[in-house]
Amino acid sequence: MEFSKLKQRAKTYLDDIIAMRRHLHRKPELSYQEHKTTSFIVEELEELGINVDRPLQTGCVGVLEGGIEADKVVALRADIDALPITEEGKHKEPFISENSGVAHCCGHDAHTANMLGTARLLSEIRDQIEGTVLFIFQPGEEKLPGGGRLLCETGYLQKKGVDVIYGLHSYPDLEPGQIALRKGALMARPDEFRVELIGKGGHAASPHEAIDPIVMASQFVNQIQTIVSRNVNPTEPAVVTVGKIDGGSAHNVIPAKVDMLGTVRTFGKEIADMIRDRIEATAKGVAEATGGAYTFDFDYGYPAVINTEWAAENVKDAATELLGNGNVKLLEEPIMAGEDFAFYQQEFPGAFFFLGSGREETGSTYSWHHPQYNIDEDCFITGAALMASLVFKPLS
Ligand code: NI
Repeated sequence: MEFSKLKQRAKTYLDDIIAMRRHLHRKPELSYQEHKTTSFIVEELEELGINVDRPLQTGCVGVLEGGIEADKVVALRADIDALPITEEGKHKEPFISENSGVAHCCGHDAHTANMLGTARLLSEIRDQIEGTVLFIFQPGEEKLPGGGRLLCETGYLQKKGVDVIYGLHSYPDLEPGQIALRKGALMARPDEFRVELIGKGGHAASPHEAIDPIVMASQFVNQIQTIVSRNVNPTEPAVVTVGKIDGGSAHNVIPAKVDMLGTVRTFGKEIADMIRDRIEATAKGVAEATGGAYTFDFDYGYPAVINTEWAAENVKDAATELLGNGNVKLLEEPIMAGEDFAFYQQEFPGAFFFLGSGREETGSTYSWHHPQYNIDEDCFITGAALMASLVFKPLS
């Protein structure tokens, strides 16, 4: 298979892929509620003569049997859900979200349209495909427990005998025609915590008769910022962030409690567990020292995205052939954002990579989850062709 032919073919579909992306962009749906999105995908797949399975309530899997009989199953994954964000941005005016307060500000509309482009490319050359290709349109990437986890728990992919899985994410830091990846650790495990510091409410002028949870919270937030600097090996990436503090009602009232939400980013469960224990110990220590109390909850999020060496090598090889050496960037460091693609990698070999989608002229250099997040639609030529070419790479 000459990959340059796939790219030429993808170019001729570009307008159709853009039309699909804009349709999905106009009609975003939140995690696990992607009913209309799923109907749209199913219709497109069926039009291509691809069978569709529905192992979950939303999302679906297209099953393309290749013309060459073989015991080989390659899975390609796209995520389909949108975010609870009010969209902004003049570049997106022609296709801005029609669903108020919901928007595709993480590019999952683009991932879905791109995958439909890949499905079309491969369906036209199915005679040349060995074994089976699965097109996974996954719901709920943005929300725990993660659609990837739910799909793995159904046993569907295991039953299909998946040999390898590939996935991509739009990436504003590179231009269309470029990709970035990394062997081994690519993205962090995002865990979440909630701490409630409970004091005793009272008049702001009589602090001696109250237990002030705002002072407790100040101590707590400062203290947990020493966990990474004092308890984690300096060569190991880790982040502790308090993202929300909620407490108090007026300038002259000491509130009864302060509620906090935060996230922990690491690359291993052992470190995540250590940080979890330190956060709880800090909450307990502050509560004991002040005569207050605390509650603590910790939710394990997604595991870290760790790319299988040979699968990442396949992406690198295919991309180098398609795009040229200078357009394949090997990241020196992993990034601290999370991705539920990690669940598939717990079960199967796999690689995840970043598809360049940013260009100033098209307002597509905003970061993920920014209300103006946009993608440069030229990225579909590379994205559709690269995903298709991975089907022809070896399984080792
Ligand atoms: Ni995303």
